[in-house]
Amino acid sequence: MSAALLEVRGLSMSFGGLRAVENIALDVAADEVFAVIGPNGAGKTTVFNCISGFYKPGSGRVRLDGKDVSGLPSHKMARKGLVRTFQSPRLFKKLTVLENLLVAQHQHLQTALLPGFFTMPSYRRAEKAALDAAHQWLDFMELGAYADRPSSQLPYGHQRKLEIARCMAAGPRVLLLDEPAAGLNPSEKRELQQLILQLRAQFGIAILFIEHDMSMVMGISDRILVMDRGQAIACGAPDEVRANPRVIKAYLGDE
Ligand SMILES: Nc1ncnc2c1ncn2[C@@H]1O[C@H](COP(=O)(O)OP(=O)(O)O)[C@@H](O)[C@H]1O
Ligand SMILES: [Mg+2]
Repeated sequence: MSAALLEVRGLSMSFGGLRAVENIALDVAADEVFAVIGPNGAGKTTVFNCISGFYKPGSGRVRLDGKDVSGLPSHKMARKGLVRTFQSPRLFKKLTVLENLLVAQHQHLQTALLPGFFTMPSYRRAEKAALDAAHQWLDFMELGAYADRPSSQLPYGHQRKLEIARCMAAGPRVLLLDEPAAGLNPSEKRELQQLILQLRAQFGIAILFIEHDMSMVMGISDRILVMDRGQAIACGAPDEVRANPRVIKAYLGDE
């Protein structure tokens, strides 16, 4: 396998006396679809929160493309190319669908804070580019028809797609999706699986996702990390994981 784009070592996080995540390590290559599974409360979301800079891990290192990015806050992680969605969609409900995409990109235009910047040609060029990218991603996700509607009016499945579009508009190299299929109907789930594979194929990004739907996990993942009570109990290709006795006992056994 090629060198890891995302490399995590010794990641641990406690809340009070609760050790939510203990000594997690993972390597994900560019082009890889990587699932994180495990029972509720296993620590999956906490791992994503630590990797994406929403929590500062108690200990451990995160490297992106060989560079140490441990402990950076989420907006800096995003600027370095690592973005994530949340277990429940977090959209700006009063803004339109298009505006939700523009806001995401503005968070990247840090130079917009310089005095006089808004009247500069470079700003207007950046604005134009942001608008073009927003439209392009709406079209890509087949959300173009909803561009001017408040995001709160989107059907739930479309809100989920908008969240992914917003991530993609930031031009990530690593995309983390926390339970992207939760609340989707079967045909939306199939569409999501195709989308994940398409994003990987077309943009060569690494995609990590947390998911409970085993047919989706087994169907599209290159590798799977299985967590239970904060710890990694297995990591490998779908066939290896499926055959692992610890996994069967801890997780798949009750399917
Ligand atoms: N912000 C927090 N404060 C306190 N406890 C938390 C917090 N976030 C998660 N936990 C606890 O950490 C454990 C792992 O949670 P989480 O990472 O959300 O699990 P999962 O995503 O696998 O369901 C759970 O026991 C949860 O209650
Ligand atoms: Mg979770």
